[in-house]
Amino acid sequence: MKLLAIVQSSEKTGNTMQIAEAMAEVAPLTIAELKDAAKYNLEQFDAVGFASGINAGRHEPELLKYVEGFEKAPKYSFVFSTSATGNYKKYNQKLIGLLKSKGSNVLGSFGCKALCTFFIFGLFGGINKGRPNMDDFDAAQQFIKDIETQIEKLKNN
Ligand SMILES: Cc1cc2nc3c(=O)[nH]c(=O)nc-3n(C[C@H](O)[C@H](O)[C@H](O)COP(=O)(O)O)c2cc1C
Repeated sequence: MKLLAIVQSSEKTGNTMQIAEAMAEVAPLTIAELKDAAKYNLEQFDAVGFASGINAGRHEPELLKYVEGFEKAPKYSFVFSTSATGNYKKYNQKLIGLLKSKGSNVLGSFGCKALCTFFIFGLFGGINKGRPNMDDFDAAQQFIKDIETQIEKLKNN
């Protein structure tokens, strides 16, 4: 089992990277920063995850552009994000739709609340201080284990 997560996470907060790192503690997950994605052969992985913080209601534009540029999308994928509101069911839709339009089977979608220092929130240290927290990491680890289980079942069929 080989999983890859392609992650774009800001240097300032690094929330989404923290989530990816928590996942990698419990699953055979390689983490690639988006800027290094070209170094990886996506076809060598059983599933590829795509993740970033949410910017104006969707994933970061560079990540969306990267996925838009796929000639051949990974057969199996998953999506995650961190955001101020944690409303990932809405926010992840754009990226999920893009992956599906490229023929990828999106096995799951995850997200959680995280520190936001954007704009006036930064004046008082940000909102959601202490997030992601242990509960968020636990939920992220459960999510990636579920992805693994799904792939094992698909391989056995
Ligand atoms: C320019 C900008 C736009 C953002 N837009 C949203 C948004 O639309 N909804 C939301 O819930 N959070 C929004 N946020 C908060 C980030 O999604 C949140 O802090 C995220 O965890 C950052 O991820 P990262 O640390 O991995 O880069 C925004 C933050 C910035 C800096």
